[in-house]
Amino acid sequence: MRLEPAGVAFDVPPGMDLVSAARAAGWRWPKSCRNGTCRTCRARVVEGHAVHRIDWPGLSREELAEGWVLACVAEPRSDLVVDALCQPDTMSLKPR
Ligand code: FES
Repeated sequence: MRLEPAGVAFDVPPGMDLVSAARAAGWRWPKSCRNGTCRTCRARVVEGHAVHRIDWPGLSREELAEGWVLACVAEPRSDLVVDALCQPDTMSLKPR
């Protein structure tokens, strides 16, 4: 997965959601509920395909059609390019 606007790429292991994969790669992705309701982790898939683990994520039909996902409950089904809408002050490299 490549994450924009940060411009970084990392692997998403099978069965792992996008937020968890970012975290495993050392990135913080804004999140709150972790169950697909609060929309804090909302992002847009601009290339590739992702699916939600839950039947009714908190997105409208129009948002789903536009490629929006709730990253805490979304898993890739192909290589992805994702616009995470994150600014540098809300998504940053974790201190090591
Ligand atoms: S963290 Fe709440 S919807 Fe993803």
